[in-house]
Amino acid sequence: MIIAVSGTPGVGKTTVSKLLSERLGYEYVSVKDFALMKGIGEPVGDEIEIDVDALAREVKAEFSARNVVIDGHLSHLVPADVVVVLRLHPRAVAERLKSRGYSRKKLAENVEAELVDVILVEALEKNKRVLEVDTTDKTPDEVVDEILTLLEEGVKRRVGVVDWTEAYDDVLEYLMLGGD
Ligand SMILES: Nc1ncnc2c1ncn2[C@@H]1O[C@H](COP(=O)(O)OP(=O)(O)OP(=O)(O)O)[C@@H](O)[C@H]1O
Ligand SMILES: [Mg+2]
Repeated sequence: MIIAVSGTPGVGKTTVSKLLSERLGYEYVSVKDFALMKGIGEPVGDEIEIDVDALAREVKAEFSARNVVIDGHLSHLVPADVVVVLRLHPRAVAERLKSRGYSRKKLAENVEAELVDVILVEALEKNKRVLEVDTTDKTPDEVVDEILTLLEEGVKRRVGVVDWTEAYDDVLEYLMLGGD
């Protein structure tokens, strides 16, 4: 079984994926490392540009008969049995990314993406089984417990657990909304 863990940068994908893979006894795979290993990731500046179609093909070839947790903000675009989309209050996303020293533009892009559910919408376009989990004010262990419960209960789709429409005021200072 392939479990993809996706979400906006900084929401806790890597932390949760590693813990989830340990708890399930699955292999842990980072999309970025896998893409680099397969030669389908191009370093562009300080980022890696990944050919998503090639990534989907390689993931299918390599992991369809294995039990893996795939971590990365592109993981919802690969053929997975379950996609977990982690959510985090945009204010917390902003604070985490700010402490990483992200530029104002990158900060705005990612806070805006979390506000308007970009990854969730993409995941729903591509996958049947999507589990949305709000990580706000939860420990990584609590998040993993929630995912394991949803998996055990065989829940097929669980979305609509957050609504950030009231969060705009909390993050106005970070937004660029299409301007500079
Ligand atoms: N549930 C949580 N509660 C508090 N802090 C957390 C939680 N999950 C992750 N963190 C912290 O937030 C930071 C970002 O976590 P992590 O690297 O797992 O995010 P990510 O989604 O993988 O980021 P990226 O998209 O850059 O790979 C880390 O410092 C991590 O320790
Ligand atoms: Mg990560």
